[in-house]
Amino acid sequence: MAKMWAGRTDGATDKLADDFNSSIHFDCRMYKQDIQGSIAHAAMLAGCNIISNEDADTLIAGLEGILADLESGALQFDMQCEDIHMFVEQVLTERIGDVGKKLHTARSRNDQVALDIRMYLRDEADQIIALTKQVIVALTEQAEQNKATIMPGYTHLQRAQPITFGHHMMAYAMMLLRDVDRICDCKKRMNMSPIGCCALAGTTYATDRRSEAAALGFDGICLNSLDGVSDRDFCVELMSAIALLQMHMSRLSEEIILWSSWEFKFVELSDAFTTGSSIMPQKKNPDMAELIRGKTGRIYGDLMSLLTALKGLPLAYNKDMQEDKECVFDAVDTIKMCLGVMSGMLSTMSVCADNMKKAAQGGFINATDLADYLVKKGMPFRSAYKISGQIVARCIADKTVLEDLPLEVYKEYSDLFDNDLYNEIDLTTCVEKRISEGGTSIQSVEKQIEYVKAQLN
Ligand code: ARG
Repeated sequence: MAKMWAGRTDGATDKLADDFNSSIHFDCRMYKQDIQGSIAHAAMLAGCNIISNEDADTLIAGLEGILADLESGALQFDMQCEDIHMFVEQVLTERIGDVGKKLHTARSRNDQVALDIRMYLRDEADQIIALTKQVIVALTEQAEQNKATIMPGYTHLQRAQPITFGHHMMAYAMMLLRDVDRICDCKKRMNMSPIGCCALAGTTYATDRRSEAAALGFDGICLNSLDGVSDRDFCVELMSAIALLQMHMSRLSEEIILWSSWEFKFVELSDAFTTGSSIMPQKKNPDMAELIRGKTGRIYGDLMSLLTALKGLPLAYNKDMQEDKECVFDAVDTIKMCLGVMSGMLSTMSVCADNMKKAAQGGFINATDLADYLVKKGMPFRSAYKISGQIVARCIADKTVLEDLPLEVYKEYSDLFDNDLYNEIDLTTCVEKRISEGGTSIQSVEKQIEYVKAQLN
């Protein structure tokens, strides 16, 4: 088939070169944005008296017909076309004749593709934000139900201090809230229109870039035409935000995997979000969480691919930039799937409060509170820390726990100990007294929940 750009050359490229060059099999997903962009372009050309109103009407009707037919399935993509832009223009010209050839006045595929990706990604970003908010809602609901569910908090994966499961869930809610914020922020810079930058230098036609941008819902225009067609920083930014979000999801997945093991059994995943083994009948595997963790590598890879593709490119457009799409599409597709699965998995997950409590009762996680008890009675913290450590060692030797050690034994270490110490080191007290802002007490977690809910609205 003769190429639309055949002119200087005869356009007869090698089949292998055609396949290598072609992007329609992945950029066809931007058909809607491409057509919407072309409709706005035709309207702008007429508004600026570059083409007649009649021609614009013909172009717009033709474009609307193509859009409708693609959506209904009456029209299929022609995979022989080089890309989605060529495809739409070719069908348009077949359908409305020579007027179709006027559409590409005062633009180039370079600004056209930059426009399409920005429009495509701003919609995707909105979907990612909505899906992330659903995960935050699931986390918040778990937190509300588990404000008083005591579990061991860990550092170095060693039992450290008692916390609540609600507090733990809200930690992730805070992370994801920042992820939403980051994506909203990168949308601001993404939502600037490159159309009208043309191939690289702008145009001699008296176009109106701002009206075209406004018609397409942009907040403004790219102010340097070379920049407008050359940079894909908005893709990199979105992918970085996605990579961060996925990193948070991966950490949460890792915890869910640990918690569902028999060694922990802190949570039980619903049957709907687990799988069995083909050989071991007893198995209930956290495959969904593992896949979210596993797909993190691929999302990081997407980000790395684009960063690397861009790093040596001279201005302005280079065909290397066609490599932006598959990775950014893969990143958005993957994160959307992961987010959907994560909210389903979280909202159907049941919490084994007894096991959490049991785990919290071992490991001397109230030793800090024992030291704090002595401090409140006047002992310097370092000395209190040392004595508490000695008492823990004594408990280990005597195979007992702090709660069960008799007062006489405590008195061997310090006269400051009295019967009120047992209340001080009770796990519920330990949690309830952590009223510092952001702490693990019920009232503090309630404040965190309130804050997150307000942010979501
Ligand atoms: N398919 C191309 C891309 O994705 C469209 C732009 C082509 N521009 C060009 N000068 N060959 O980048």
